[in-house]
Amino acid sequence: MDLELTELKKIGADISSYAGKKVTVGGWVRSNRDSKNIGFLTISDGSCFQTLQIVYSDSLASGAEAAEEKAARQSGDKALDFAGVAKLNVGASVIATGTIVLTPQARQPFEMQAEEILLEGESTPDYPMQAKRHSMEFLRTMPHLRVRTNTFQAVMRVRSVAAYAIHRFFQENGFVYVHTPLITSSDAEGAGEMFQVTTLPLDNVPKTPDGKVDYSQDFFGKPVNLTVSGQLNVETYAMAFRNVYTFGPTFRAEKSNTTRHAAEFWMIEPELAFADLSDDMDCAEAMLKYVIRYVLTNCPDEMQFFNQFVDKGLIERLTHVAESDFGRVTYTDAVKILEQHNEEFDFKAYWGCDLQTEHERYLTEKVFKKPVFVTDYPKEIKAFYMKLNPDGKTVAAADCLVPGIGEIIGGSQREDDLEKLTRRMEELHMNLSEYQYYLDLRRYGSVRHSGFGLGFERAVMYLTGMGNIRDVLPFPRTVGNCEL
Ligand code: 4AD
Ligand code: MG
Repeated sequence: MDLELTELKKIGADISSYAGKKVTVGGWVRSNRDSKNIGFLTISDGSCFQTLQIVYSDSLASGAEAAEEKAARQSGDKALDFAGVAKLNVGASVIATGTIVLTPQARQPFEMQAEEILLEGESTPDYPMQAKRHSMEFLRTMPHLRVRTNTFQAVMRVRSVAAYAIHRFFQENGFVYVHTPLITSSDAEGAGEMFQVTTLPLDNVPKTPDGKVDYSQDFFGKPVNLTVSGQLNVETYAMAFRNVYTFGPTFRAEKSNTTRHAAEFWMIEPELAFADLSDDMDCAEAMLKYVIRYVLTNCPDEMQFFNQFVDKGLIERLTHVAESDFGRVTYTDAVKILEQHNEEFDFKAYWGCDLQTEHERYLTEKVFKKPVFVTDYPKEIKAFYMKLNPDGKTVAAADCLVPGIGEIIGGSQREDDLEKLTRRMEELHMNLSEYQYYLDLRRYGSVRHSGFGLGFERAVMYLTGMGNIRDVLPFPRTVGNCEL
């Protein structure tokens, strides 16, 4: 292709430099309508959000001329005459050559006057993504085709750009990207929500003489799982590189069938050595603001689309967030606020309770009206590795809550004291022999360190205003659902 639509977008207002030029564009038909001797084909070439309107008439290169040209190009494509183009179904792929004409009065700033339209691949009339609005539920049944709709073009490009922005943020700040393993022998969150990985035959599991599963015959010689978090692994690297991060898939066999939980999701987990909880929150806040700005700057068409069709006020809200300070409140103070509004909640808040989504959303949407970090949670409701506060009751944890979603980030300062960490793990009846490597970090040059996990899909939901995690994952996996 000698031209991608994105080229035209880059030229922006100065499209005039393309005016009158002959270009070739390849793409998929989004719509096609014709009257007697003129027709309008809209194609998307995937290079940007915008589509191209191609005007065709009966002056299209005739079959014979095209056949000659075709031979010259050694192409297997078939040149279409007017009737051929008019018959094209939505979804077909074409390569169109023609002249760019400025159309300042029309909805789109320019169009192509086609000279030749080659058929690359036909589509049948039953193509499911017709040029009309489909429900998200319907689109979810077709993860392989829904990406050809405006909504998914916009979501998945923002997803890609946001991922790049996150890497840029950490790389520009000197963090080392660590590829933590997906198959692991430790349960990082201690929540027991793991998918087991095994090559043992499930219909004939080998047993030891005392009737237990004989894992010595399994691939790794012991039970292993898909990771729920790269944190424990990445902590080891923080003790050598200082500032590190992981960005990869994580897996949780949580049976929560909500709009915010997936069984396979991506997580960004930075770990900062010589950093306390306040440094950790500063890093999280700077990262989120960086990503918001980056996406607003680099995906203007997509963000306009979300602002108009998905979440009115999105751009203004995100712009405001990028410019203002996040709130910070302790769990204890947050619970005091929530208790005053308990009549509004299904689940009544009290000190010691795990905050529910309704509580999280109340705090960020009604009380703070912006993202807020809730800090210093009771140790009982948080993971074993979090640093015990001097009060002996709470840990140095910080969850970041955002409007519309609730928790988007979970982080903490880590317990760096060997004795306290060992005691906590014993209290929780954890198998210490499996965590010796983790305790070694506290034996050999232990340093204050902190980190957090940003749920990437929740970040994409926040950036786009999309309401369901199933619609920001290319191929969502949730309880009872694993297509393709
Ligand atoms: O709060 P979580 O469980 O924290 C951790 O995993 C820590 N190891 C992070 C760290 O300190 N390095 O998960 C972190 C974030 C949540 O705030 C949420 O955004 C997301 O991961 N998350 C999920 N996203 C989608 N589906 C699920 N089932 C999720 N569970 C957690
Ligand atoms: Mg959490």
